[in-house]
Amino acid sequence: MFLGAALLVLTTCSVALGSDGLKPQIPSVASFKPSRGSFELSPVVQIVVDSKYASHGSPSLFDFAETFSDDLKDIIGYVSLAPVLLSPFVPGITFGIPTIYLTLDTSLNYKLFNGKTTDEGYDIEVSQDSLIVKSSAPLGVWWGTRTLLQQAALQLADGEKRVSFPAGSITDSPGWEVRGFMLDAGRHWFDASFLGDLCIYASFFKINEMHLHASDNLWNPAFLYGEGNEGWKHLYAAFRFQPPPGSPIDGLVPHKNESWTKQQFTTMQETCAKHGITVVPEIDTPGHSLVINQWKPELMENGAPDHLNLSYPETIPTIKSIWDEFLPWFSASEVSIGADEYDASLANDYISFVNEMSSYISSKTGKSIRIWGTNEPSKTMSVSKDITIQHWDFPGDDIPIQLLQKGYRVINSEQAFLYLDGKTSEGGQFPQELDQDLIWAGAPGGKGWAPNIFSPSDPSNNTSPDDPNLRGSIFALWNDWGNNATTALEIYYQLARSVAVFGEKAWAGSDVRQTALTRAQFDAAYPLLNAAAPGQNLNRVVKPLYGNVVLDLPGTHSVLTTHVPSVGPPYTLSFSVMPDDKTPSTGLLFSGTDSKLHVANLTFEATGQLYALGYVLPTHRFTTVEIHATREYTYAVIDGDEAHPRYWHTLMDIWGDYMALGNMSFAAPSAQIGGDGFRGKIKDVKLTLGA
Ligand SMILES: *[C@@H]1O[C@H](CO)[C@@H](O)[C@H](O)[C@H]1NC(C)=O
Ligand SMILES: *[C@@H]1O[C@H](CO)[C@@H](O)[C@H](O)[C@H]1NC(C)=O
Ligand SMILES: *[C@@H]1O[C@H](CO)[C@@H](O)[C@H](O)[C@H]1NC(C)=O
Ligand SMILES: *[C@@H]1O[C@H](CO)[C@@H](O)[C@H](O)[C@H]1NC(C)=O
Ligand SMILES: *[C@@H]1O[C@H](CO)[C@@H](O)[C@H](O)[C@H]1NC(C)=O
Ligand SMILES: *[C@@H]1O[C@H](CO)[C@@H](O)[C@H](O)[C@H]1NC(C)=O
Repeated sequence: MFLGAALLVLTTCSVALGSDGLKPQIPSVASFKPSRGSFELSPVVQIVVDSKYASHGSPSLFDFAETFSDDLKDIIGYVSLAPVLLSPFVPGITFGIPTIYLTLDTSLNYKLFNGKTTDEGYDIEVSQDSLIVKSSAPLGVWWGTRTLLQQAALQLADGEKRVSFPAGSITDSPGWEVRGFMLDAGRHWFDASFLGDLCIYASFFKINEMHLHASDNLWNPAFLYGEGNEGWKHLYAAFRFQPPPGSPIDGLVPHKNESWTKQQFTTMQETCAKHGITVVPEIDTPGHSLVINQWKPELMENGAPDHLNLSYPETIPTIKSIWDEFLPWFSASEVSIGADEYDASLANDYISFVNEMSSYISSKTGKSIRIWGTNEPSKTMSVSKDITIQHWDFPGDDIPIQLLQKGYRVINSEQAFLYLDGKTSEGGQFPQELDQDLIWAGAPGGKGWAPNIFSPSDPSNNTSPDDPNLRGSIFALWNDWGNNATTALEIYYQLARSVAVFGEKAWAGSDVRQTALTRAQFDAAYPLLNAAAPGQNLNRVVKPLYGNVVLDLPGTHSVLTTHVPSVGPPYTLSFSVMPDDKTPSTGLLFSGTDSKLHVANLTFEATGQLYALGYVLPTHRFTTVEIHATREYTYAVIDGDEAHPRYWHTLMDIWGDYMALGNMSFAAPSAQIGGDGFRGKIKDVKLTLGA
């Protein structure tokens, strides 16, 4: 009966949504009750934080208010905001100017779909003079501010001159506790500031976790398991947390230039936290552990250099010593020990290991652990129910519905819906971005995928949205082909839309709320919100000089610095170049914050990797080069020969089976022309938007 009544209310509201009410946004808002009038956001607005609660939480309500203030300026060009004010809350309070008031109300009690309490819900009360955002905790208020920003962005994108919020009251809260994305930062290096930007972006869509898979190796059976070969010593393996100088575990990090110092990591973690996102770090053992065995080969399982031998006496103490070093870095209340894809024949070793790590980490820090679902058949032992299981695979994994029934808490990362791989996947197994058809159609007869949906074909494997043990969902982007398969920005291109659609489904579900978005509503809102997402510039958008021209530099240049650090595709960069014939052709034609173009072989460099075009510029005359880039590829037209475009490629080693050619997308290296020893002439440089 209660549900019937709630649905009735929501149905009434959904009429208002999108017409004279709120614009459909991502994720959808659970309910909005309109009243008369609206709150006009005039150029002068005051953000006020309830002084009683300003310092509550970490980040505090005040911290969130300051970020909100920056974001509001970022989205609404016309506002001039005074510094955030502190003031006690008095009902009906205004400051003579339109006021956005942020406060807590500890009597508010928001529920997830399974009835458990959450601090992530919020209420917004909009009247003519004030707009009050409140929640039971600062994090809920933070999500409320995302709702306001999205409404503002959508109105401006619609051509409104001034933002105005329809009067009424919004009540909203997430259906699930865990709404995350996982990034494989083990096989591919990402610097910490890029990860911070990903958090800021994902936060706009109310994602609350970034799961960082921070140690791993490329997988190539010929290198790893070849008879009597030492290939495993040279296969790329990485551990991203850099121990302090002189640490006894120093040797664990083979690529120091591809690891985060404590300072870099904690700054990034704080950026994420300030945007409502918890960083859940993963150090993967006892499988996927080549990096540990390259350091201490005595820990290796015979014949499996990427597996640890758990019964060797030094193995578990070594793993504990690694966690001892890094646990103090992590602010999350949970960490992942990976624990996927280990020998089924060593089930008892595996189970006692994960249980021991669970007790160890819990007794040292109070943190609990997660593992990837892994089928380890034992007749005598079972994984502790303190451990959350992240399901990803049928049927090798335990069946999630059975785990839930046995009392395990489960996170849904089922690969049929939620896996991506950088650039390409083996046999086209995974899509470039989350498959919109699958996400919106979901299970047979359903209204789409949601965290309670585990199978696209067999509904008996799904559970209900209110399952008490279902914690939520994390979608995953793997980097099976390593560093040179993609640039960091290409990974963002794969994540951008995926984050948004996942944000909707993991917040609102598919068939619980009448107000959940339709696919058409999502498709209409997404491009506008992607473009408006504040606090970062992953799209590398720049303001043109005029028309669509970003740089226009006629004449000849030796070294010239611009004020444009980098430009995202699509763009066209054209120039003429004549390298000096008396000195070797080295040096840079162009460089920027995301990429460089070396004169030798017209080689692009990004994320430390080199991609040669294989074209050698003649030294006795000018060659004209036109570089065209989209998010899918970059090619050059040399001397106007449009019939023969030359693409920049990468070559990916697909698990030692075959080599796959892939296109590369590079941001324009627009910060400097020439440099790094380049001798010769570059002239008539022009950079325009559009490929
Ligand atoms: C693991 O280590 C133990 C103890 O050193 C040894 O007896 C055993 O053979 C090793 N097992 C494998 C599979 O390497
Ligand atoms: C679904 O559940 C059945 C029975 O529990 C299981 O055998 C099957 O592998 C599951 N897989 C999928 C993809 O639905
Ligand atoms: C240019 O590329 C060719 C083949 O791709 C290579 O042999 C040569 O060493 C490269 N030259 C430079 C200067 O990088
Ligand atoms: C780190 O150093 C190695 C070895 O010099 C190099 O190959 C790699 O490109 C560097 N990585 C980055 C991100 O610069
Ligand atoms: C990329 O790395 C793989 C090894 O993972 C190597 O086989 C391939 O040649 C590299 N491709 C380029 C373009 O350097
Ligand atoms: C690169 O992109 C072009 C243009 O879309 C396409 O024709 C070509 O097949 C792509 N090459 C690879 C290796 O994917």
